[in-house]
Amino acid sequence: MPSSATAPQRVRSRFRAKARQFDDLYEDERPLVRLLRPGLYRRRELAIDTVRSYQSPAVLDVGCGSGRIGELALEAGASRYVGIDFSEPMIELARARLERFGDRVELVTENFLAASLDGPFDVVLALGLFDYLPDANRFARRMLELCSHGGSMVGSFPAWSLVKGPIRKVRYEWIGDCPIFNYERGALEGLLLDVGFARVEIFAPGRSGYLVRAHRR
Ligand SMILES: C[S@@+](CC[C@H](N)C(=O)[O-])C[C@H]1O[C@@H](n2cnc3c(N)ncnc32)[C@H](O)[C@@H]1O
Repeated sequence: MPSSATAPQRVRSRFRAKARQFDDLYEDERPLVRLLRPGLYRRRELAIDTVRSYQSPAVLDVGCGSGRIGELALEAGASRYVGIDFSEPMIELARARLERFGDRVELVTENFLAASLDGPFDVVLALGLFDYLPDANRFARRMLELCSHGGSMVGSFPAWSLVKGPIRKVRYEWIGDCPIFNYERGALEGLLLDVGFARVEIFAPGRSGYLVRAHRR
């Protein structure tokens, strides 16, 4: 039974409780783990390739978690990195990890939709975020507003799969009291075009989700 808390409150509780456990997923680079979790690695590759395609870009990372991708984005040449996450323990992990980059980094502990952020950004990252959003349109629209004229958004979007779908449902919603959402290719493309992205590239690296790069123009 879901609790009476709102969806964002339930997501926040989960990532307050599981920050360290989530961060540890990245430590395990064994081939078997990579095979079982291809999405985690592929989304990271698309994000970094996109950062590298700009010269010294400003990067916004929505739901930045423990700063794992932020670290790679900064190493790949981001001149400015703003990470926002409403889980304090995640932001603390990110702060420790990104300290060495000094004033290129700004970390914000807030709900993305409520935050006032000083854009624009050449790259907006939304990795492992849309899984938990009941109002994906509002998030996508705000991301577009924060994109620079030639900017792009890179996001990951889970899809229902016969194997992983039921497992995720039980694990997150029934046991973990955390809402999760799935996307279908056509609706996803429509959503991003409707909010105003001019061009949408959709990659389907596995059966359990989509990677998207959406361009402002
Ligand atoms: C699965 S983690 C992904 C972290 C990171 N992007 C990565 O790929 O390693 C999702 C993160 O999104 C954050 N989050 C979810 N909804 C959010 C919201 N509305 N505002 C800010 N952060 C949010 C959670 O706290 C969590 O840390």
